[in-house]
Amino acid sequence: AAPGCVIKCSVFSSESSSFSTSQSASLREIPGSYGLPVFGPLKDRLDFFWFQGENQFYKARMDKYESTVFRVNFPPFPPGFPYSRGVALLDQKSYGVLYDTSKVQKEDMFTGSFAPSKDFTGGYRMLAALDPSHEKHTILKSMLFELLKVNRTRTIFEFSKAFAETFDAVERQISQGKQVDFYSSTQKFVLDFLIRTIVHRDPAKPGHASLANDGPSLFQTWIGVQYGGIAQSGLPHIVEEFALHNFPLPFFLVKGMYGRIYKFFRTYATEAIAVASSKFGLDREEATHNLIFILGVNAWLGLIRLFPAIIYHVANGGSELQGRLRAEVRSSASSTRAGLTAEAIASMPLIRSTVLEVLRLSAPAKYQYARAKTDLIIESHDAAYMIKKGELLGGCLHFASRDPAVFDDPETFVADRFMGEKGKKLLPNLLWSNGYNHQPATAVNKQCGGKDLVEHISCLFLAELFTRYDSFQIAEPASIYSYPPRIKFTSMQKASSPSRI
Ligand code: HEM
Repeated sequence: AAPGCVIKCSVFSSESSSFSTSQSASLREIPGSYGLPVFGPLKDRLDFFWFQGENQFYKARMDKYESTVFRVNFPPFPPGFPYSRGVALLDQKSYGVLYDTSKVQKEDMFTGSFAPSKDFTGGYRMLAALDPSHEKHTILKSMLFELLKVNRTRTIFEFSKAFAETFDAVERQISQGKQVDFYSSTQKFVLDFLIRTIVHRDPAKPGHASLANDGPSLFQTWIGVQYGGIAQSGLPHIVEEFALHNFPLPFFLVKGMYGRIYKFFRTYATEAIAVASSKFGLDREEATHNLIFILGVNAWLGLIRLFPAIIYHVANGGSELQGRLRAEVRSSASSTRAGLTAEAIASMPLIRSTVLEVLRLSAPAKYQYARAKTDLIIESHDAAYMIKKGELLGGCLHFASRDPAVFDDPETFVADRFMGEKGKKLLPNLLWSNGYNHQPATAVNKQCGGKDLVEHISCLFLAELFTRYDSFQIAEPASIYSYPPRIKFTSMQKASSPSRI
């Protein structure tokens, strides 16, 4: 149809979306272009990684085409990586199509058009790369839910223990007059918590398969080499362009490192693997590699980005926000008379809203991709677009989560945005988990399997922080949009009236 013509059509709509479907949207040709073969993607690559940076890359095109839906080359870029021509979705209304697996397929869509070699994962396709129609998807996700359930009682204990160890070390360094890089502290903190909770073993405990003190760097390198084409490594720009963004790196570079991670899990994750095998009939090898990926990529990578982001936003909130959080934590913890229990955490609305607002503004997993299963029409707030079967669709949460049609003052961090009745109504518009936040992750959808855990331990993180400290400060300039994030504690004021009873 010609651009701008008005049609009566059945457009994409989701029952979960808070948007109503107009029956007469204006059908517009999708703006944007992929450019000439080789040169088009090369220009986009330089813009994305170098001249504009990833957020400005999308913003500049959104402004140029005056549309939140447009054609673009996604990273990683050819010729070293497969052609990645697709349609960007940057508003909340069009974004919903990515969750509708009756209309899109999700096989090998974890990082868009590029899927790393299965050599990195023992020869298996991981849960996150499976379409939910796959029986294996249901089995593996059910296995995760079971492991989270059977380890529920350990969660708060292990989290609080790893938190205390981390902040003991932070305080020691501050007392020596140092600024403490919280991103590197978080890497060990999160790995210790995840592995002790699910594998029931301290990664650094001596033993023939110990990860000693290099667990975080083993995971970081295995992930960095696997996803080099889209990685921001902190290496000098020119080195990064040539070493990582040119072509996929081979598995043999990290074979030894992954071998150590694998040996650790095979040796110590015996209870988890027994559950996978006896309850779900999974092959032990496949279960081991999936467990490594879930804990090492899905969980670890997300959480090590999230905790520094929480610190960043709460530090920026200054003494006013910190004072309100502190008051809520201490009054809830003492009213339940048992400290930071799950019940106490559930009665901290400002803590929860703060966590959700961090997830809105700084979602750690920014991109979601899918391929159209059939020809379909999707709608943005102001137009409808025809998508052809097989086209790649890519959403960027940085923009969908700042959609001005949905959120008042979308660029501003508003800690109590998700409180009260008004806040509750916004939950369907919170999309960090690859789904609508008021809906649960299930074995047959693609929503983050750790969604509830993430929200719970993030609340616990803030509650622990304001139980232990009255307030804290970080060094300026701080950033969570650089790699590595620059979050350095400069001072922390210990609690003047401890609430633990
Ligand atoms: C999938 C975000 C933590 C387990 C996803 C996806 C997102 C996401 C966006 C969808 C990926 C896609 O297909 O495009 C996050 C964030 C986290 C986090 C931001 C932390 C801040 C966790 C944790 C676990 C977990 C702690 C488990 C303990 C999974 C699994 C999937 C997944 C298994 C694949 C689900 C499926 O394919 O059905 N996560 N996640 N995640 N996440 Fe998380």
